[in-house]
Amino acid sequence: MPSPRPLLIAGSIATDHLMTFQGKFEDSLVVEQLHKLSVSFLVDDLEIRRGGVAPNMCFGLGRLGLRPVLVGAAGEDFGDYRSWLERHGVDCSHVRISESKHTARFVCTTDATMAQFASFYPGAMAEARLIELQPIVAAVGEPEYVLIGADDPEGMLRHTEECRQRGYAFIADPSQQLAFGEGELIRQLVDGAALLFSNEYESHLIEQKTGWSAEEVLSRVGTQVTTLGAEGVRVRRAGEPDIVLPAAKDVTAVEPTGVGDAFRAGFLGALAWDVGLERAAQVGCVLAAYVVETVGTQEYTFTAEQFLGRLEHSYGAEAAADIRPHLV
Ligand SMILES: Nc1ncnc2c1ncn2[C@@H]1O[C@H](COP(=O)(O)OP(=O)(O)OP(=O)(O)O)[C@@H](O)[C@H]1O
Ligand SMILES: [Mg+2]
Repeated sequence: MPSPRPLLIAGSIATDHLMTFQGKFEDSLVVEQLHKLSVSFLVDDLEIRRGGVAPNMCFGLGRLGLRPVLVGAAGEDFGDYRSWLERHGVDCSHVRISESKHTARFVCTTDATMAQFASFYPGAMAEARLIELQPIVAAVGEPEYVLIGADDPEGMLRHTEECRQRGYAFIADPSQQLAFGEGELIRQLVDGAALLFSNEYESHLIEQKTGWSAEEVLSRVGTQVTTLGAEGVRVRRAGEPDIVLPAAKDVTAVEPTGVGDAFRAGFLGALAWDVGLERAAQVGCVLAAYVVETVGTQEYTFTAEQFLGRLEHSYGAEAAADIRPHLV
């Protein structure tokens, strides 16, 4: 049974263009000529990966049979990515398409020594600040919540303020933007969130930048979910005992990109099924396991039986039995 109320997932929409150079950049750089630097590398591999935190989360929710609403800004070049997401159950009809900018793009060339030249073009992402949630809500219905993930900081702030004004429950997931944001911005993004997601490092960054103690952060949000990498996850609510769970069992880590987003997708999917916080954390850890085991953030597949098998193997038969009715 999918959630009767829509889940709005706001955040960056981007692709990664990754190239590999078989030689060493070092061999082409002439130190005395750096002021006239102009080098070109013949690369033998180009991989284009779908990314952006919001599509990553939406993809995971779609995999679980939910139909999330993607909120974000992209360019005219979004067509192929849109079709891919729609094929996987994501409602892309409210994505803002920029008239002048391309979809955000990370371009990186890595050489044989793992040295990198990288650039990030935010492009259309900056138009996230022009997105108003209310017309989307008018079209899809009153949201269960609005997740506000890493994006154009102005856009994140605007979405958060609009949620406060209109009384939409919101989930704060500032992740990468924590490194750049000032304390005031972070306080604004976090205060009053129904749920706050971060990894452990980011949870300390939140405390440091906001000037709030761990207890004070917790007192300002409904539930705080802190992922601990291969160690699992901790879920806290003021006045209740912490839920601390290990990561899924027997995971062969191949490439971690997108693991945090997949965890969130699993957690939020399970919340929509109303199975409680412990089950939500377990579903999150299992979905995250699929991402760590694949290259790319939206390349994993599983059948309901496989997913339930993994859930049972890691967290027991009761966990699987509770989730079974919801997975189609
Ligand atoms: N090596 C691993 N083995 C098993 N599970 C893992 C591993 N790494 C991460 N996970 C799972 O993914 C969840 C999120 O991981 P993590 O805390 O590393 O997120 P993150 O730092 O936000 O990741 P990123 O931002 O790189 O996507 C963890 O709670 C855990 O369930
Ligand atoms: Mg993360």
